[in-house]
Amino acid sequence: MSEGGDIMIPGRTCPIDYNLNGESFDRFDEDIMADTIYVVGGLYGNKEALDEILKMAKEESNLRIVFNGDAHWFDVDLEDFSYIENAIKNYDAIIGNVEAELISDRSEAGCGCSYPDSVDDGVVDRSNKIHSIMKKNIQKSKDMIDVLKRRKRTLTARVGDKRIAILHGDEKSLAGWGNSKENLQDADRLDEIGSWADKNSIDIVACTHTCAPIAVAFGEDCKTIDENNGEKRPDKTSDKILDVGEVDKLDKKVDKLDKEVDKLDKPDKKVVINNGASGMPNFINTNYGLLTRISKTKSDRAIYRYILGDVFIEAIPIEYDHDKFLKWFDEVWDNTSPASISYRDRIVYGGCDNVENCVRGFELVFD
Ligand SMILES: [Fe+2]
Repeated sequence: MSEGGDIMIPGRTCPIDYNLNGESFDRFDEDIMADTIYVVGGLYGNKEALDEILKMAKEESNLRIVFNGDAHWFDVDLEDFSYIENAIKNYDAIIGNVEAELISDRSEAGCGCSYPDSVDDGVVDRSNKIHSIMKKNIQKSKDMIDVLKRRKRTLTARVGDKRIAILHGDEKSLAGWGNSKENLQDADRLDEIGSWADKNSIDIVACTHTCAPIAVAFGEDCKTIDENNGEKRPDKTSDKILDVGEVDKLDKKVDKLDKEVDKLDKPDKKVVINNGASGMPNFINTNYGLLTRISKTKSDRAIYRYILGDVFIEAIPIEYDHDKFLKWFDEVWDNTSPASISYRDRIVYGGCDNVENCVRGFELVFD
């Protein structure tokens, strides 16, 4: 039973203690200040992806790496789990629902994913099974459990003059789906997270959890920038007939004003970037993971980018050793296992969407 007395449905119900209302985002002593931050969400126990990220990190200066939850998933054996934990122990990490349910005494929340109705019951059931196998193995190690118990739930960061909220799910809940691709296409949801970001002086929200990437840059009226650009300018002269010369003059005035606005630091623009998965492919016919890079400098590796003032917000592919990862995955999970049924096709053939469908307001910069 949940605290409120309602029956919990494993993998569906969001546990009440995932509520993030008590977290403080508007304090100005940020946890992290750096020139570049990698936000690595949903590593899912992929050692090859982790090794590749640490290799990429050597090319950066004044870098902080933040693992923003669900660093584990396929690594249900204690040895594999410990490999990931030992490798990330010197970096920043926050807890995801996978870790939260490992340290929880309850079993009623299952994997803690809080899957929405759009996710098939079979997927939910298999996720609960994967998590219960992991929990049985990992709870044997007090050291591992203690490490997870010390992990924070959110972090704030600063790059240049931009403030960043680093979350697992959304601003309300550790396993919230408010930053899913579907929800971030909704104007009311953009209005909600835009208001929250304004209230907390946050410019960028970096999140994960939904396993599907989405990056949205939007303006003060909470429409996406794409929509604003395509919007018809209000015609304030509709009741007056203007001659061609007057129209030209007005057009030039408007162009000049537009340029002035572009020069401003876009103080009202907000960005929400959900990296999808670092440890699994995200797009059709690809086999790389994704991390979010927020930096004072631009990366040549980026596949999409938004520039907010002087700060670059980018999605970077993690081109891990696919064959090695697949070999390990098949050794741990045979073809009748819940992980193989749910994820093997994605690992081999890629995600189910194109890059173009996962960005709004961002510039695509891949070939
Ligand atoms: Fe998650």
